[in-house]
Amino acid sequence: MVSLRSQEWYAGQDRDGYIHRAWMRRGLPVDAFDGEKPHIAIANTASDLTPCNLHLNEVASSVRDGILEAGGVPLNLPVVSLGETLVRPTAMLWRNMAAMAMEEMFRANPIDGLVLLGGCDKTIPSLLMAAASVDLPAVVVPGGPALTGTFKGRPLGCGTDVWRLSEDVRAGVMSAQEFTDSESAMLRSKGHCNTMGTASTMAVVAEALGMTIPGVAGTPAPDARLLATSHATGKLIIEMVREDRRPSEILTKAAFHNAIVAVAGVGGSTNAVVHLLALAGRLGVDLTLADFDEIGQRIPLLANLQPSGTHLMDDLFRAGGVLAVLAQLKDQLRPEAITVTGKPLVDYLGDRPIYDDDVIKPVTEPVLEDAGIAVLRGNLAPNGAIIKPSAASPELLTHRGPAVVFHSIEDLHARLDDEDLVITPDSIMVLQGCGPRGYPGMPEVGNMPLPQKLLRQGVRDMVRISDARMSGTAYGTVVLHVSPESAAGGPLGLVRDGDLISLDVPNRTLVLEVSDEELAARAAAPADSSTAAPTRGWEKLYVDHVMQADTGADLDFLVGSSGAKVGRESH
Ligand code: FES
Ligand code: MG
Repeated sequence: MVSLRSQEWYAGQDRDGYIHRAWMRRGLPVDAFDGEKPHIAIANTASDLTPCNLHLNEVASSVRDGILEAGGVPLNLPVVSLGETLVRPTAMLWRNMAAMAMEEMFRANPIDGLVLLGGCDKTIPSLLMAAASVDLPAVVVPGGPALTGTFKGRPLGCGTDVWRLSEDVRAGVMSAQEFTDSESAMLRSKGHCNTMGTASTMAVVAEALGMTIPGVAGTPAPDARLLATSHATGKLIIEMVREDRRPSEILTKAAFHNAIVAVAGVGGSTNAVVHLLALAGRLGVDLTLADFDEIGQRIPLLANLQPSGTHLMDDLFRAGGVLAVLAQLKDQLRPEAITVTGKPLVDYLGDRPIYDDDVIKPVTEPVLEDAGIAVLRGNLAPNGAIIKPSAASPELLTHRGPAVVFHSIEDLHARLDDEDLVITPDSIMVLQGCGPRGYPGMPEVGNMPLPQKLLRQGVRDMVRISDARMSGTAYGTVVLHVSPESAAGGPLGLVRDGDLISLDVPNRTLVLEVSDEELAARAAAPADSSTAAPTRGWEKLYVDHVMQADTGADLDFLVGSSGAKVGRESH
């Protein structure tokens, strides 16, 4: 076996070894420090303020049993947790902070391996970014989705139905009372959003990257099998430490290829783009925005799940699970990419039947032929923008129309329902100032609500363009992540009411039909900007160092790895 990193703290009969051991002896077996037992941190994002992850304490307990059974020392390590629905101004502002805090605590402590417990949107990305940066053996347990809740006999999709029902209320086809009544039916059990939103997407991503025990992603949070797999994960991490199997061996370009294929096949969230790019940056893997289009373009949508389709996450699990989807796409996956078990992902894809082909379509009859995230370029997005065609209206994927510009989210809210707003179903809604630097934090506001007067006419989708993200549970013909963002001098900030914009997804272009001369003149004029200008704390550090969406919106000084080595003693 490899010599354990924790022995740098615990070996030796000197004063320092005494201090490290003596304070830790409470409750641990006498031989905990003899160099035979790997010390495993269970990085736990359970928090009362992250309700999607609340049950991870129970998961941690099963992981702990597995670690003990395999001869390791389990150590509970509460880490920064981000509750998507509560955290202001957006959980994305804190993803890099969570990742940085976790990275430093993983490095600073006598730890030989990591079990990463996440669920709600930003928790798995930040855990993966931190683990990749220290490159200690690590394995993810995704907390799993909530069970389907129903309202008046109809299943409710977390997030997706919030958007739908709130537009129904604004359109006058649902009462405010009914809307409120549906609230307590939506989250029926422990677990994260039950749609193929960002949390479900990042669980699939973790599995396709090889960072989970294959087959666990999508296991509903209350399902007994989640705890059995958690126990097995506790045993596995001991084997991984003994064999020195590290993230850098698993998270290769081939693993990222497989993750992009998986996201397309399940109709996953656009947020996977920024998270995968940031993770690749930590590892020095050469992944670009263009890879999402190139790899994803040939991949069909097979999972009929909200927001792209109709079913929910426990339907996916019942129908055969994520591995049944991946088995249909086996020919598109890179066979050399290994998982935490040491075996390739593709080795787990034999004999994976589909039990309900309305939920998982066979590759011969996909929901959609070409489901990859499309990367658009043009003078409106010189460094790229993205759209999720599977969540868009097919007839709007090629569209030309006049811009209606909102300078900020507050401006949008103030004027959206003004009956005098000059806007038609053909207009293109443009939202500025919502990128990483501008908001700050790149919030999920890109799926702008539609004007009430158009909703009343029955309009349910319009082309919308911004430098923001959108919730993984959202849908619509929504162009996102425009880069550079308006607050970084991107042309998005120069768009004015009435400018013609042409969107052509089949040809991957996004063009602002305004001359270069006119744009240069507009850029030279002082802009009235509502961009954030923080002066202290994390927000200040963030706006000074955040990179653009096209490279994952990480901080510039966090690119690359730190490794696990910390040379200096504390005494
Ligand atoms: Fe936590 Fe959706 S809000 S997963
Ligand atoms: Mg979200």
